[in-house]
Amino acid sequence: MEGVLDHPMRELLCELGGFDYCVTEFVRVTSQLLPNRVFHRLCPELRQGGKTLSGTPVIVQLLGGNADMLAANAVRACNLGAPGIDLNFGCPAKTVNRHDGGAALLKNPERLYKIVSEVRKSVPTQIPVTAKMRLGYEDKSLAVENACAIEAGGAAHITVHARTKVEGYAPPAHWQWLNTIRQQVSLPIIANGEVWNVSDYKQCREVSQCTDVMVGRGAIRTPDIGLQINSANQNTPYSPLQWSGICYLILDFYQRIEHIPTRFACSRLKQWVGLLSNGYPEGKDLFSRIKRLKDVQLILIEINRYIK
Ligand SMILES: Cc1cc2nc3c(=O)[nH]c(=O)nc-3n(C[C@H](O)[C@H](O)[C@H](O)COP(=O)(O)O)c2cc1C
Repeated sequence: MEGVLDHPMRELLCELGGFDYCVTEFVRVTSQLLPNRVFHRLCPELRQGGKTLSGTPVIVQLLGGNADMLAANAVRACNLGAPGIDLNFGCPAKTVNRHDGGAALLKNPERLYKIVSEVRKSVPTQIPVTAKMRLGYEDKSLAVENACAIEAGGAAHITVHARTKVEGYAPPAHWQWLNTIRQQVSLPIIANGEVWNVSDYKQCREVSQCTDVMVGRGAIRTPDIGLQINSANQNTPYSPLQWSGICYLILDFYQRIEHIPTRFACSRLKQWVGLLSNGYPEGKDLFSRIKRLKDVQLILIEINRYIK
C-alpha cells in the first residue's frame, strides 16, 4: 500500500506474524527500464532473497500500461531476486489513471490480457505473475471479462478488491461479486476489501466463497489481525494485543525509521497513530495529543505514557 506499507512497516508486521506474503508499494513503469536502485529502494528485501528478515516473501508490484516495459521491468525485478510479480489494475489515483495505469486499464480487457501475457512469457516460469483488480472502473459490467482476460494471460491468481474505481474506498465491499467471478474462472481469487477483524474475515469468506483473503488497511489498524485470524482458523487461544502492546510496536516502528529526516518520522508516526485510533479508543486520545507536535522526542514521550 503506497505510502503506508513500506519496508520498515512490512518488516514490523511480518515479524509480528500471521501473513503468508506481502506486496511492495507500486513501482511505476512508464517508458524505461528502471535502474536497479529503484527496485532496491522500494524493495530492500531484494537484498535478502526477496523476503523480510522474518522470512515472509515480498512480491514486487508493478504499475503501468505499457506491456513491453512492464515485462522488461518484471524481468529485472526477478533478476534482482523478486519471488513474484504483482500487476496493479486497481489504483484509483487520478494522475495514475490519466497516465494509463491502475484501474483505468479495467476499461479494456484486451489490454489486461496483453500485459499479463507479455509479463508471464518474459519472466522465469517458476516465478508467479499475479494481478490485483477492482470490480471495474465506472461499473461492474466487465468484472468477469477482466478476470477471464487476466486468467487467459497466465496469472497464477487474482486479488480482487470488491469495489469499482468510482466506489473508491467507501463501504460496503461487494463480496458477493467475488463469488460471481470465482465461478467463471479456474484460477484462485483472493478476496479483498473491508476486512477489519476476524468476524469480517469469516463473513467475507462465507459470502465470496474464496479461500484466501488479502487484508489492506486492517493490517495497519490492527497489526496482529493475521495472528487473530490464524488462531481463529486453528481454534487455538490467542489474546489480541492491548493498547500498551501496540505502543511498544509504535516505538519499535520509530526505531526502524529514526534515520529518516525528523519531519518525515513525525508524520509517519502521526499517520500510523491516526490509523490505529480507529481500532483502539486510547489511540484517539494519543492522536489528539501528538497531532500538532513537531518534535519527535515529545511524540515519543506521549507514546511512552501508555506503556505499562
Ligand atoms: C493508502 C493506500 C494505498 C494503497 N496502495 C495500493 C497499492 O499500491 N497497490 C494496490 O494494489 N492497492 C493499494 N491500495 C488498495 C489496498 O491494497 C486495498 O485493495 C484496499 O484498501 C481495500 O482493502 P482493505 O479494505 O483491506 O483496505 C491502497 C490503499 C490505500 C488506502
